[in-house]
Amino acid sequence: MPAHLAVLTSKPEWQTLKEQRERLDGVLMKDLFEQDPGRAKRYFIEGAGLSLDFSKNRITDEVLEALLALARSCNLEARRDALLRGERVNVTEDRPALHTALRNPGTEAVTVDGEDVIAEVQNTLNRMETLVNDVLDQRRTGYTGKPFTDVVSIGIGGSYLGPKLVGEALQPYARAGIRCHYVANIDGTEICETLRQVHPETTLFLIQSKSFRTQETLENSKVARQWFLDRCGDEQAVSQHFMAVTANVPAAQDFGVDPANVFPMWDWVGGRYSLWSAIGLPIAFSVGMANFRALLAGAHGMDQHFREAPLAENLPVVMAMLGIWYNNFWGAETHAILPYDHYLRSLPDHLQQLDMESNGKSVTQAGAPLAWQSGPVIWGGVGANGQHAYHQLIHQGTRLIPADFIIPLKTHNPVATHHADLFANCLSQSRAMMAGKSLEEARAELAAEGRSEAETEQLAAHKVIPGNKPSNTLIMESVTPETVGALIALYEHRTFVQGVIWDVDSFDQWGVELGKQLGKGILPRLLGEKGGNQASDSSTDHLIERFRSTGGA
Ligand code: F6P
Repeated sequence: MPAHLAVLTSKPEWQTLKEQRERLDGVLMKDLFEQDPGRAKRYFIEGAGLSLDFSKNRITDEVLEALLALARSCNLEARRDALLRGERVNVTEDRPALHTALRNPGTEAVTVDGEDVIAEVQNTLNRMETLVNDVLDQRRTGYTGKPFTDVVSIGIGGSYLGPKLVGEALQPYARAGIRCHYVANIDGTEICETLRQVHPETTLFLIQSKSFRTQETLENSKVARQWFLDRCGDEQAVSQHFMAVTANVPAAQDFGVDPANVFPMWDWVGGRYSLWSAIGLPIAFSVGMANFRALLAGAHGMDQHFREAPLAENLPVVMAMLGIWYNNFWGAETHAILPYDHYLRSLPDHLQQLDMESNGKSVTQAGAPLAWQSGPVIWGGVGANGQHAYHQLIHQGTRLIPADFIIPLKTHNPVATHHADLFANCLSQSRAMMAGKSLEEARAELAAEGRSEAETEQLAAHKVIPGNKPSNTLIMESVTPETVGALIALYEHRTFVQGVIWDVDSFDQWGVELGKQLGKGILPRLLGEKGGNQASDSSTDHLIERFRSTGGA
């Protein structure tokens, strides 16, 4: 059998990595740094405006070589090219995954079923540009002729997280005059609180749903529509104030959206990869179309890097394979995303959906049970806040938690020495994770504080930081449309590469369907309506009774 078809764990490359893993037992990164002054420079790669220091990892040249050999043995390069060419890499839904076409500047042809995808993408971008400019330049107004001041984007999952992240990340580029609000959850509080902040005459509603079937989005949109009608009393005005981005145009029309106000989505774009499409309209309203195009250009730069850079210098490949290393050879169960930048505060949320919905799978592409771990738990939060919360567990807990530190070299808001302080915090954390504090150092520290011998003995063990905790540090000149585009595309490709190694379909999400189906049976029971008969259990029944007994609805 050719090596690339062998089951992952029986590949010779996998065995080599297992041996390498054993060889590194007891080897400390801090010793590797001491033995090799060139380590930091050797394990440093760059692409598309981003730079990665991956020297604080439990790796040697041999490990890296073996990780890349595993990638090759899984046919990574061919699979990458198939993705970028528009082949049907989403095997369970028989679709391509062409988010890269959304940021292709039109220089190359990509077709799906004979249709020129790039032309459709460019047409849509041009339509977006017209709309955004008309609104920002006040040529297009609300039903009373007043300029729009607020955009309420209603969508969930990929139709929410990406635009929200980028909208926040590009705040320094925001145009005056338009505020963007995001409503996702089917929690009345979210839509009600948002509607309290806006005025019907000056608010544009964007219904963002690829399927136009998502309960949360449809119910929130109905509430918004009713709120609008109650105040303006004119059905005709709905078409001026409600727009949709969807692949399901008839459903949007049924809702009352004028077809001229429907922007397309395509089944070859996954929801979690859709911020680059018209789903990115809130971003464009906020920062203008030129900046939206710059965001696409940054992502395209990362696509080119992913396509062209040798594997050893390829940011998504190296980051993905380091993730494989910890996930599959060191038993790490989670991966922390730690942006040290307020503008990137929603990056962990976006990457959580991107990665966990893509690689949270248990069967191979052919449907056989996986005999290896697939995607880890992705979580995180903004630094330095996390240092006063969960970093304790990273430093001294029993689990191995690899982390990505992400920080710009320059801030948009220079004030006092804040940015140097923030940078120092970021570096001190990755160094503390790597170097730790030995028992001897803890003892010496306590003795220097003048503690008695007994106290020193009692406390020293508590002060030991084991260290040898791996991390990457991703840096960029500054948070710009281009670097944000490149950063998100980097993680998209990292996710794809890991999916290739684990042999899962990274582009479907069947797991989320069961809850949706069951919800349809539970809701009528909560509302006391007929039609909610389906298999249940005593716990669910009891909780439904409690809800009904308090008149919960
Ligand atoms: O339920 C998961 C999911 O399908 C995501 O993949 C998607 O991003 C989200 O729901 C929203 O879907 P839609 O854009 O079709 O409303």
